Amino acid sequence: MANKRRSHFDTCCPYRFSSYGSFCLSLVAGFVWLLLDYPMRREERGRFAVILSSVQAKVTLGIMLPLFIILGGVTAVQLLRHRTIVLNSASIMDANFTKVIEQSLRHEIMESHFDSAQSLLDAIGRTGQFHVVYLLNTEGRVIFAPNSEGVGQVLSNEDPDCQPCHSLEEEERPGSVVVTLDSGERVFRSMIPMENTPECAECHQTEEDEPLAVLLTDTPLTELEASLRADFWENLLWLASAVVVTVIVVNLALNQLVLKRIKLLGQALAGFGRGRHNVRLSAGDPDEIGQLVDVFNEMGRRVEAEEAENRALSEDLARQSALRGQLLERLITAQEDERKRLAREIHDELGQAMGGLALQAEVLQRLVSPDDEQAQAQLSQMKALITTTTDSMYDMILALRPSALDDLGLAAALRAHAERTLANTGVQFEMDAGEFNGRLPSKMETALYRLFQEALSNAIRHANAKHIRIRLALHQGWFEGHIEDDGRGFDPNDIHLTGTAPRGLGLLGMKERAAQFGGELQIASQYGGGTRVSIRIPVNPPPQKHS
Ligand SMILES: Nc1ncnc2c1ncn2[C@@H]1O[C@H](COP(=O)(O)OP(=O)(O)O)[C@@H](O)[C@H]1O
Ligand SMILES: [Mg+2]
Repeated sequence: MANKRRSHFDTCCPYRFSSYGSFCLSLVAGFVWLLLDYPMRREERGRFAVILSSVQAKVTLGIMLPLFIILGGVTAVQLLRHRTIVLNSASIMDANFTKVIEQSLRHEIMESHFDSAQSLLDAIGRTGQFHVVYLLNTEGRVIFAPNSEGVGQVLSNEDPDCQPCHSLEEEERPGSVVVTLDSGERVFRSMIPMENTPECAECHQTEEDEPLAVLLTDTPLTELEASLRADFWENLLWLASAVVVTVIVVNLALNQLVLKRIKLLGQALAGFGRGRHNVRLSAGDPDEIGQLVDVFNEMGRRVEAEEAENRALSEDLARQSALRGQLLERLITAQEDERKRLAREIHDELGQAMGGLALQAEVLQRLVSPDDEQAQAQLSQMKALITTTTDSMYDMILALRPSALDDLGLAAALRAHAERTLANTGVQFEMDAGEFNGRLPSKMETALYRLFQEALSNAIRHANAKHIRIRLALHQGWFEGHIEDDGRGFDPNDIHLTGTAPRGLGLLGMKERAAQFGGELQIASQYGGGTRVSIRIPVNPPPQKHS
């Protein structure tokens, strides 16, 4: 009957799982909680986030967590199996041992050697291997115990300690169970029945097939559990060591094979961003990082080549622009010289001739009889024509080379030119030269004069302005000039020298003249909002005061 009984462990699984499985689970859960929900201050969280966002931390966690879960799981299962086997073996041995005691007692009782039976139990009690050894009669009364301690007391199977077995059908009852005593101590409890055999009939006149007594032993589990616990901690230590060693090895390899090289590449790229394009890295292994390094090196080579090409191009451009500047200067000088020569020739040749013509017309008018009205009228018309032609000739001379520019300077020449040009046009003109009455270098004055001449001509020809204003000033070593009109305005970005209707040579010439002296020209204009042309030119040395 005892052989049929199952081991007590079949009913004790929850107990075993709670011990190890819950420990491992709580370790992992604690770790995850620490990662996800550890209540940190903001700056701590920020620092933690920075550490966590590094590749090294991610890889370390990525290895540690699964390794911990897998190895922890395997270790927990192994431990549970190991514990089951150990406790099963211990249970069998305990049951066997109790059976041996039962047989020995039975023998002594059969022989009516009750003293020997008591001595046997006393000896067993002295070994200290058992917490309790009771022989119970059918009422549950203790009839034998080591040193007769507890004899006479009645153990009820209604006791909660007994219920795990006694609530089951008899065939279902395990050979032994683990019981936690009131003291908190855990024991194997084995119940071996003393069967009612024919030899018993001599003393026990009962026909029933019920056992005559039951041998109850409680074997402390303390030592066994202590060694299982030690085993558990040892396993845990191995597990932690395995994880730590794996993490260290992986980190070393990661550092050596990947991170170090990526860091170098990152530094080189940062330097590249700051303009250090001549840095080259050694590719090392031809792996993915090696390929990246190759790409970086190639990129550096190309950028350097393009930079060299660009340098050569910009040097070429600078040379060409210097040449263009010189040519422009020569052109402008030649143009001005030519204008001067033309103005002189017109003045000297045509001026003389017109003067002579006027004189002759005067003489002729005196010679013709005052009564010849027709001839007198013709002569008067001729004199008027000579006067207007002479005026036009002087306007031309002034336009070609205003004498005021050489004699009185930019402000006076500009004022004279504007007033002459705008006379009888109805356009209001205003000139504000403020403190600016000094002289500028002659070439600069000429360039500025031409520039304003063109701007004024634009305002008259294109703007349909009612009001034109010129302002000249010297400010902190800069000549600053503005010419504004309240005309129709235009979009300066829409003026192109190319296309079907190329325009803008005048504006380009103005910019060129400003650039020739290291200055700049700005045009602010919009449709319906008038136009304002501003020019700034550095004046060095400062202009001399005009006396
Ligand atoms: N003050 C202005 N008001 C309105 N339009 C202007 C003014 N100045 C220039 N423009 C516009 O810019 C164009 C280009 O001017 P410009 O280069 O001097 O060439 P051009 O006077 O020979 O047409 C002009 O055709 C005109 O449409
Ligand atoms: Mg123009």
